[in-house]
Amino acid sequence: MTLRLAFVLTLLSFAGPGHAQNLDKGKEINAVCAGCHGEFGQGGSRGEYPRIAGQRGGYLIDQLNSFRARKRVNIPMYPYTQERELPDEDIRDVAAYLASIKLPTTWPVFKDSDDALTRLTLTERVMIIPRVAGNLANGEAVYQKKCAACHARNGKGQGTYPMLVGQYTSYLKRQIEKYLNNERPHDDAVAGGILTTLTEHDVQDVLAYLTSIQD
Ligand code: HEC
Ligand code: HEC
Repeated sequence: MTLRLAFVLTLLSFAGPGHAQNLDKGKEINAVCAGCHGEFGQGGSRGEYPRIAGQRGGYLIDQLNSFRARKRVNIPMYPYTQERELPDEDIRDVAAYLASIKLPTTWPVFKDSDDALTRLTLTERVMIIPRVAGNLANGEAVYQKKCAACHARNGKGQGTYPMLVGQYTSYLKRQIEKYLNNERPHDDAVAGGILTTLTEHDVQDVLAYLTSIQD
């Protein structure tokens, strides 16, 4: 394959309906998001700000639209998602950029020539969610039976269904509570949907299982 064709194909793979997304523009827009979500979209404050790097592009677009329409209430983000601040095209560009970021899940091996700043930059990107306690066998059974159909067997999401593996546990837990309190719709118009069939132990076990299957 020629280099040119490879380039065009790469662009096409990020394209929404009709036209290619502009990743450079997406990166520029991300400078605003970085104040809370981190320079690499890695999130922060132990999950107060979720990781958004490497998330499914279609899901990012859905959520940004929901914040803008106030269907999903997010007071800190509301001003950043208003039409003037974030038109549809910017939403698509920033989503494509964020979806394209790959955060490593293992510590880097430094070269002797790496200076302190290089070392810091390399470690800042590393995304390892600390293991949490729980019954892994039950977590796996519940997850594979009730969640995998949408969030994928490996927890990385598919289509517009979000990845759960590699996301902060405290953030996921808070979202499950929001779904159960009907503050965010999950898989169903009915509050919480499938999440209402989980016991508190099941939730803890699923969260523990998700931290155990990172790459
Ligand atoms: C002032 C801080 C702040 C800024 C700036 C900000 N966010 Fe957020 N964002 C948050 C918080 C807090 C949440 C989590 C809300 C919750 O717990 O439901 C969030 C959630 C999200 C989510 C949902 C993630 C998920 O897994 O569902 C996405 C997507 C997102 N932000 C994208 C962006 C983008 C893109 C920008 C830049 C255009 C941005 N944010 C700017 C604070 C911020
Ligand atoms: C029928 C499909 C479906 C199934 C099955 C499903 N989910 Fe989801 N899940 C979704 C959708 C759709 C969203 C995004 C909803 C939205 O827009 O807020 C979501 C979002 C989530 C989120 C929030 C992610 C984030 O980044 O904010 C969590 C946590 C979650 N699901 C947990 C689970 C768990 C645990 C199970 C199994 C008990 C499960 N889901 C089963 C469809 C599903």
